[in-house]
Amino acid sequence: MKKIITKCADETVRFGARLGKLISKGDIIALNGNLGSGKTTLVKGIAQGLGVRDARYVNSPSFVIVKEYKGRFPLYHFDVYRLDDPSALDSVGYKEFFYGNGASVIEWAEKIQELLPKEHLSIEFFSEDINKREISISAEGERYKKMVARL
Ligand SMILES: Nc1ncnc2c1ncn2[C@@H]1O[C@H](COP(=O)(O)OP(=O)(O)OP(=O)(O)O)[C@@H](O)[C@H]1O
Ligand SMILES: [Mg+2]
Repeated sequence: MKKIITKCADETVRFGARLGKLISKGDIIALNGNLGSGKTTLVKGIAQGLGVRDARYVNSPSFVIVKEYKGRFPLYHFDVYRLDDPSALDSVGYKEFFYGNGASVIEWAEKIQELLPKEHLSIEFFSEDINKREISISAEGERYKKMVARL
């Protein structure tokens, strides 16, 4: 497990961009943490690192559950906050995303924990004060452990 502290939103974006450069097709990144703790902010950075044009327009896809951004390969951005039940994710055909041609990043992943592939990168946000966040990164599976080591 790795912990980093960011002291402003931009630092979280920059950390996301580093991560975005390391991810590959098929990667799954699970994000957890309270409302406003920085999940979407990190996704902006991931999109930037993946070469998504206009990554600054990345926002929470609350009403559509999943949005796709085009970078080096597709980035599928899920926000499952509003899902009442994990089975509701079937209706968006989530397997085609999780096991498809892009990387998936999931806000509020704990809500669909049972549907996540066993191997994934897990990132948790803790708000320490108005601009300070502790970001805790842990890996399930060799490939993600290597990724964390390079971060
Ligand atoms: N160090 C920091 N890292 C990330 N965001 C920060 C930081 N400091 C302040 N902020 C601010 O906190 C807010 C984080 O909002 P963001 O939408 O990323 O949260 P979220 O976890 O996606 O929330 P939600 O659960 O509602 O989707 C932004 O307004 C951002 O500017
Ligand atoms: Mg969000």
